[in-house]
Amino acid sequence: MTNEALLTSEALKRAAAAHAVDFVRPGMRVGLGTGSTARHFVELLGERVRQGLDIVAIPTSEATRADAERAGIQLTTLEETPDLDLTVDGADEITRGLNAIKGGGGALLREKIVASASARMIVIADESKWVDTLGRFPLPVEVVPFGVAPTRCAIEQAVAEMGYAGSARQRRTREGHAFVTDGGHLIFDLELGRIPEPQALARRLAGIPGVVEHGLFIGLVRTAIIAGPQGIRIEEA
Ligand code: A5P
Repeated sequence: MTNEALLTSEALKRAAAAHAVDFVRPGMRVGLGTGSTARHFVELLGERVRQGLDIVAIPTSEATRADAERAGIQLTTLEETPDLDLTVDGADEITRGLNAIKGGGGALLREKIVASASARMIVIADESKWVDTLGRFPLPVEVVPFGVAPTRCAIEQAVAEMGYAGSARQRRTREGHAFVTDGGHLIFDLELGRIPEPQALARRLAGIPGVVEHGLFIGLVRTAIIAGPQGIRIEEA
């Protein structure tokens, strides 16, 4: 990406995030997503909090916890606050009907738990995330470290039986170490190309022993705020 394109993309992410802040009402319990778009939301929400907006929030990752603390947002836990009013999060891909792929930042498990505990999930994104069909972005699948080799075989066999040609690549850090999630798990990224039936794939992956969660968010997103050069577009499920 050129510097100019990067600046534009950050401006679009921030515009979507700014729009989402208007959905937050005093007294709300708010889930805070993870990633570069969600970070804009946390910063902008922090500005409102400093102006007197009274909310409590749950972060979906340790990175977001640090951002939220820096922004002065009061945090709670799902034990104290099991029902949330709203979660605002980014996405790696989102399509008509508002099914999404998430987990590019490795926070999919907490993101899905927090979104599922919320009355409403809003995805904020620049328009590059809006796709016709999910799958160009590699699908993250979070697994426990125990038995990682047979779990990988079971994942590859499951996707092959469903007609996908792709492979499962274990996620690594830039230094070449295994990427470890906040929950102490590993991630396989599935290069599938195109996922015509995300519900069926989601069901199949969820049934594999060792798989903790996958990045298909089906039926969870109620509203998408998509920012493009022409302005903001709101999509409802
Ligand atoms: C984090 O695990 C992800 O689900 C992110 O929400 C997703 O990758 C979008 O991130 P960006 O906003 O950085 O593109």
